[in-house]
Amino acid sequence: MEYLVVKIMILATIPLYSLAAEIPLVRQVASKYNVSCILVFGDSSVDSGNNNALHTTMKSNFLPYGKDFFDSRPTGRFSNGRLATDFVAEAVGYRKVIPPFLDPNLKAEDLEYGVSFASAATGFDDYTAEVSNVLSVSKQLEYFAHYKIHLRREVGEERAEFITRNALYIISMGTNDFLQNYFLEPTRPKQFSLEEFENFLLSRFAKDVKEMHRLGARRLIIVGVLPLGCIPLIKTLRSAEGCDKSLNSVAHAFNAKLLQQLNILKTKLGLRTALVDVYDMIQRAVTNPKKYGFVEGSKGCVGTGTIEYGDSCKGVNSCSDADKYVFWDAVHPTQKMYKLIAEEAIASFVTNFF
Ligand SMILES: *[C@@H]1O[C@H](CO)[C@@H](O)[C@H](O)[C@H]1NC(C)=O
Repeated sequence: MEYLVVKIMILATIPLYSLAAEIPLVRQVASKYNVSCILVFGDSSVDSGNNNALHTTMKSNFLPYGKDFFDSRPTGRFSNGRLATDFVAEAVGYRKVIPPFLDPNLKAEDLEYGVSFASAATGFDDYTAEVSNVLSVSKQLEYFAHYKIHLRREVGEERAEFITRNALYIISMGTNDFLQNYFLEPTRPKQFSLEEFENFLLSRFAKDVKEMHRLGARRLIIVGVLPLGCIPLIKTLRSAEGCDKSLNSVAHAFNAKLLQQLNILKTKLGLRTALVDVYDMIQRAVTNPKKYGFVEGSKGCVGTGTIEYGDSCKGVNSCSDADKYVFWDAVHPTQKMYKLIAEEAIASFVTNFF
C-alpha cells in the first residue's frame, strides 16, 4: 500500500511523456496476466460517444469538444481530447481509443479490443439516468450481455469466455447522483436523508457488481467521485472562494464508503479490485496546478470557464492551450488531467492486481 502511494506521487509529478515511457512495462505486465481488453461502465468521465445515439441533451459531439482529439474530431467525449480510459487502453496494448458500443460504425472485429457502455449524466441510481434520459447502469449491463453474444459470434465461445474473464472492468460515476439528482431534484431528498441516499447508492453499486461478476468480470477498477466542490460550475453557483468544503466532504466521505463496499464485494465474489482516487488527484491539481504542469486550476478552458458545459459550449471559443488547464469545460477535466488520472489507474492495477 505504501509502495502504491509513493508510486502514484512519482507518476503524478512526472511530465507528459511519462505514460509513453511506462507503456512497454504495462504491456508486458498486461500480456503476462492475459489482460484481454477494457470494458467500461459509467458516466461522462468515460463515455466515448454512446449518448450520440440517444435522445438526450447531454451530448458533446460538436466543437470545441474534441479539438485536440485525432483530426480535431468531436466524438461525444466530454473533453478536448482523449479520456483516461483511452490512455489505459493504449498502455495495455491494442488500441488508442475505446469506442462506444452504440457507435453505428463499430465493426464486429473491434469488439475484442474493448468498448465503453458508459453514458454521460448517468449514475448509480437509475433515477439519475432517468432525469437526463440516458443509459442507466442496468441498461449498460444489458448492452454488455448483447456484447457477449456478438463477441461469441465473432471469435467463438471459448475465446469470448477468455476475453470477458481477463478484461479490466472500469466503473466511473457517482458525480451526477449528487449534482444532477440529490442536490437538484426534489424526489430523492423526500425519500432519503443524505446518509440513506449514500447507502442506497452503495446497494445499487453492489447489485451492479454482482451482475457484472455473473457476466464474467473478475478484475474491477472503480473510479471514485471528483471533489465536487472544486468543479468550476459548482464554485460559480455557490460563489465559493476556493473549493466548496461541504460538497467536498460529501464526495470524500462517499468515496470512503465506496471503498469499504468494494472490499466487501472483493472478498465475497473473489474479485481483484482497485480504487482510483480521482478526488485526491484533482484536488491536488486544483490546489497546486504548477506542480503538475498546469497554469489554471480554477476555471475551465471553454468560454468564461465558469458555467459553460455541454450544449452551452456550442460555438463558444476556447483557450489556445488546454494542456494548461485542469478543467476543459465548467465540469469536466482536460485530456491532460485525464492522462494523469490514467497513470494513477495504471499504477493501481499494476500494484493491486498482479
Ligand atoms: C494466461 O492464460 C493461459 C492460457 O489460458 C494460462 O495457462 C495462464 O495460466 C494464464 N496466466 C495467468 C497469469 O492468469
